[in-house]
Amino acid sequence: MAHNAYTVTLIPGDGIGPEVTEAACRVLEATGLSFTWDVQNAGAAVAEREGTPLPDAVLDSIRAHGVALKGPVTTPIGSGFRSVNVGIRKALDLYANVRPALTLPGLPRSHPNVDLIVVRENTEGLYTGIEHEVIPDVAAEATRIITRRASERVVRYAFEYARRNGRRGVTVVHKANILKITDGLFLKVAREVAQDYPDIALREMIVDAMCMQLVVQPEAYDVLVTTNLFGDIVSDLCAGLVGGLGVAPGANIGEHIAVFEPVHGSAPDIAGKDIANPIAATLTGALMLRHLGEREAAAQVESAIASVIAAGRVITADLKSGLPGARVVGTRAMADEIIHNLLTN
Ligand code: NAI
Repeated sequence: MAHNAYTVTLIPGDGIGPEVTEAACRVLEATGLSFTWDVQNAGAAVAEREGTPLPDAVLDSIRAHGVALKGPVTTPIGSGFRSVNVGIRKALDLYANVRPALTLPGLPRSHPNVDLIVVRENTEGLYTGIEHEVIPDVAAEATRIITRRASERVVRYAFEYARRNGRRGVTVVHKANILKITDGLFLKVAREVAQDYPDIALREMIVDAMCMQLVVQPEAYDVLVTTNLFGDIVSDLCAGLVGGLGVAPGANIGEHIAVFEPVHGSAPDIAGKDIANPIAATLTGALMLRHLGEREAAAQVESAIASVIAAGRVITADLKSGLPGARVVGTRAMADEIIHNLLTN
């Protein structure tokens, strides 16, 4: 049927990116939906060949299709090109970075009953790239931009998400006690937006206290919304609560365009060995299915992953400790297990 066929930009990325996106695509195809993958290359390998890590063709493709599945790309530290991720988010105005952290029962070393959504402002804050040396080698300065417009739309997104998904409350995470003007504005705008949502409770939490609370009682929180850098850090903490980067999906949402990518990076230490965990990329694919309106297929993928974990027979190397009875399998074999489960249940 026509509405069951999708054209999606696929950016395999660097390091483990091609391995985990290939696995995710195979699982998505096993749902019976039909995908045409418009493969576009971005990242460190492309930069060597084409002089830029983010060729225009990549952005053109995402604009044309409105949706992309992206693997991680390597960003050199200290020198070299600017982050491809920041480039894509800015060029396409993907203002909300959404990172769910959900407990997969049966996974050791994960907190029970976690069901968090971190909504991170994705276009400004300390990620403006405006920094300079005040005195070379002695002092350096970075500019943190917070605007009413960006704050309002990301907070509104968090409240809309909460309402749409029957969530209890939104916690705004800030540091307005110290960053009185920048985070002061973010918090003020959040309070204003909250007035439009009397059915959703607003909580306020200073970021350091939030981190402590998330470690101690993560099940007490629901949707979190915060500025760019805090969101980057808090969302990795949340990923750690439910098993780590190997199982943490993510989405970058704009007005008309969405780019889906796992939270993890290109993991050069394990790249090309068929040992990376494909679950984060596959759960990311499920988020994409939901965005496309394919709720049933998304639920199929998520429940196949949950069943494989709950059965405890196979596991990838990153999650092995604590599951002594499980056989360690590679990226491809884990995808095969998920597909087998999806097709037989
Ligand atoms: P990373 O997430 O690549 O790796 C951190 C640790 O987690 C490593 O030990 C790695 O082996 C492990 N890991 C990550 N994903 C895994 C998976 N799916 N299965 C099993 N183990 C996994 O973070 P790192 O090392 O800080 O960054 C490496 C590169 O990735 C850097 O160039 C960084 O800029 C880039 N990066 C890109 C992102 C993106 O494109 N969205 C996000 C984060 C980092």
